[in-house]
Amino acid sequence: MKRYHLFEFEDLSWFPKFIRDYGTDFLEFISNKADFYKEIIPVLKKGISKSGQKKIIDLASGGGGGWKKISSRLKEEIPGIKITLTDFYPNEKAFKKMLKHDREMFFYVPEKINALDVPKQLIGLRTQFLSFHHFKYNDAKKILQNAVDNNMSIAIFEAQERNMANVLKNMFSPIMVLFATPFIRPFNLGRLIFTYLIPIVPLFILWDGVVSVLRTYTLEEMKSMTHELNNRLRYKWEIEKIEDGPITILYLLGYPKKS
Ligand SMILES: C[S@@+](CC[C@H](N)C(=O)[O-])C[C@H]1O[C@@H](n2cnc3c(N)ncnc32)[C@H](O)[C@@H]1O
Repeated sequence: MKRYHLFEFEDLSWFPKFIRDYGTDFLEFISNKADFYKEIIPVLKKGISKSGQKKIIDLASGGGGGWKKISSRLKEEIPGIKITLTDFYPNEKAFKKMLKHDREMFFYVPEKINALDVPKQLIGLRTQFLSFHHFKYNDAKKILQNAVDNNMSIAIFEAQERNMANVLKNMFSPIMVLFATPFIRPFNLGRLIFTYLIPIVPLFILWDGVVSVLRTYTLEEMKSMTHELNNRLRYKWEIEKIEDGPITILYLLGYPKKS
């Protein structure tokens, strides 16, 4: 299927922040309930070890994505690991919820952090979950180039492939939103109003979900990005797919060869 970079509401700077946050909260809820990322722990562990730091800088963190489940597994395997959540549109309430979950492990940056140009003081394995598709080809390449230029390891995960089955699956997302909303924390009256009375949240999640499938890069497209990077040969690139029942995770792991 051809890639289409249609707009997502989430990316529009004028889109109301609280509605965007309800969307990223929903993704956080679903990612942990469905345990999307349980098979990626070996990839993350490898990235952490290659980075030489017990630190993760998560870019485009949204509402925290699948970190609740991932972090409890990582903690067992790498005691003392620290995870810093960042975003261009930080969802601070959600970040605080993650800190409450584990104050030793989670940190966040309240200021805007652009995945295209990560501040040098943020040191550690860079991660991105369900967000690489937000960037047009040249910008996605800039994310990788920025990691290479700063000698940082990077691990990118997409919990879907670009195909018709996933487009159709996303057609059902409004129903999932209607069922999940009462269980999403923190409780918020606005969330209920804009889900059930004025159903903006299910509709925006429907649109963004379908468009995000159409925007997702294939493994071949990610490979060609890495082939076009400056100093690409200094890095080892692993671009693979993990299948776990109905869940497919595409990942790109890049790390300096001398690490
Ligand atoms: C679909 S959400 C994914 C959130 C989370 N990682 C998850 O798995 O649920 C995409 C996120 O990308 C963020 N984003 C978009 N453009 C960005 C940029 N230039 N730099 C950093 N984050 C960005 C959005 O604010 C949003 O939180």
